[in-house]
Amino acid sequence: TPEDPVIARIIADHLGVEGPLLPILHAVQAALGHIPAAAHGPIAEALNITRAELHGVISFYHDFRDRPAGRHVVRICRSEACQAVGGVALSQAVLDKLGLDWHGTTPDGRVTVEPVYCLGLCACGPAAMVDGALKGRATPEDVLAGLEA
Ligand code: FES
Repeated sequence: TPEDPVIARIIADHLGVEGPLLPILHAVQAALGHIPAAAHGPIAEALNITRAELHGVISFYHDFRDRPAGRHVVRICRSEACQAVGGVALSQAVLDKLGLDWHGTTPDGRVTVEPVYCLGLCACGPAAMVDGALKGRATPEDVLAGLEA
């Protein structure tokens, strides 16, 4: 696949590192936006672990995705302070509107919704981040605006 050279270089760059698995996975995801199935064999082989072990690690950490994220990424804060000021209702409204669960992507590849645990905006919760832009006292309308395309 076209990703192969990238994957091979990332593995080679990390082989001297202690505990290379997570750094490799983070690097692959940073480079490719997700961890493609094509990466599993080379990584498992290089680190001498089974594919099942590798799969267990990838699915344990929700930050790793096995397919590309949607064109827009919405992150909604699920930490305490935001939950206390409407974060639950905000999350529910956004997820319902998009027909998603956490970590889900709409079938048209438009939007992915991820939880985050504090965006540093606790004083003006509920907080969200839409395509990298922070939103305080966020409403479902704020969060969903601009996600149509
Ligand atoms: Fe939500 Fe800090 S608790 S931004």
